[in-house]
Amino acid sequence: MSQQVKAVIARAKGAPVEVTTIVVPDPGPGEAVVKVQACGVCHTDLHYREGGINDEFPFLLGHEAAGVVESVGEGVTEVAPGDFVVLNWRAVCGQCRSCRRGRPQYCFATHNAKQKMTLLDGTELSPALGIGAFAEKTLVAAGQCTKVDPAASPAVAGLLGCGVMAGLGAAINTGGVGRGDSVAVIGCGGVGGAAVMGSRLAGAAKIIAVDIDDRKLETARRLGATHTVNSRTTDPVEAIRELTDGNGADVVVEAVGRPETYKQAFYARDLAGTVVLVGVPTPEMTLELPLLDVFGRGGALKSSWYGDCLPSRDFPLLIDLHLQGRLDLDAFVTETIELDAVEQAFERMHHGDVLRSVVIL
Ligand SMILES: NC(=O)c1ccc[n+]([C@@H]2O[C@H](COP(=O)([O-])OP(=O)(O)OC[C@H]3O[C@@H](n4cnc5c(N)ncnc54)[C@H](O)[C@@H]3O)[C@@H](O)[C@H]2O)c1
Ligand SMILES: [Zn+2]
Ligand SMILES: [Zn+2]
Repeated sequence: MSQQVKAVIARAKGAPVEVTTIVVPDPGPGEAVVKVQACGVCHTDLHYREGGINDEFPFLLGHEAAGVVESVGEGVTEVAPGDFVVLNWRAVCGQCRSCRRGRPQYCFATHNAKQKMTLLDGTELSPALGIGAFAEKTLVAAGQCTKVDPAASPAVAGLLGCGVMAGLGAAINTGGVGRGDSVAVIGCGGVGGAAVMGSRLAGAAKIIAVDIDDRKLETARRLGATHTVNSRTTDPVEAIRELTDGNGADVVVEAVGRPETYKQAFYARDLAGTVVLVGVPTPEMTLELPLLDVFGRGGALKSSWYGDCLPSRDFPLLIDLHLQGRLDLDAFVTETIELDAVEQAFERMHHGDVLRSVVIL
């Protein structure tokens, strides 16, 4: 028997999101239905709403979620009803060319549920990042459910499902930040803030936070930044060079997703340094750089999808570190809200008032 639940959808490009009733089918083979307990509001949800990701409206938004498995379909062995899980958008296939080479964190054929959730009139929904968790219940591939210690609060655990993992991993996994490194993070929202925290965890000696909003810079200090630069009033490239003996940072994480901030990242790194692009650009954006500078400065220009994480390896570990008091994930939760307040949360995110608003269900 399919179920009808309340959920937040984006019906058309730029239109305010709305709470409506959706139909969630029973899980088929390899699928699970999850009772969502908490789901964070990520900038990527807003990108979907604005048509910046693709045109497959209507979208079922929400993807930074934790909850409890309600039912599983045929053949599912990795999770069972009652398990506390964080939802992930990297259910690895085990069979693509990347998985077969032992690099499942880059899996090119990740799993989502095969069946579709729909509106009451049968219109198929596109779940954000294959999750769609601004909903009382959602249907996902069983591999999208990662079991973690249920002692963690759902609001905090869910954040690992996207932005916080993306930021932590951009620094630690993609950027390879290590002991004694200098790091700069451009854009210190939820994702950039997590990159600051990840850099501290990895032993960086200097962590320079850059943002255009002083409130974000204050939070970045709490998360581990040793220096802050407001790039509205100060040239960030010069400031980062000055703070690193004139050289630039070993690793610069760009967590905005714009050509001008990418250029700042490119020029603010030391020779042979690494740039990590974790911010998501929109389709019309282009970048022009002197090819000689790309060549002459050496190093690595990387992008980071989901912090190159492997959910089964990283989520339980990070939750354990959090429960031991070594990773202050609570610092990311600015406010908890109800399902019908997502549009206002977008507004507050747009104005920079929050690190994360988390919907509690
Ligand atoms: N790669 C991934 O896997 C992944 C995952 C999640 C989110 N993202 C992307 O990461 C980006 C950040 O997401 P978020 O949720 O942290 O968003 P956010 O809105 O919370 O944070 C963005 C921050 O950038 C700052 N900013 C804006 N313009 C700036 C500028 N010119 N210079 C410096 N700082 C500036 C804002 O003040 C804000 O603090 C988005 O593009 C989002 O889509 C990527
Ligand atoms: Zn694969
Ligand atoms: Zn996200």
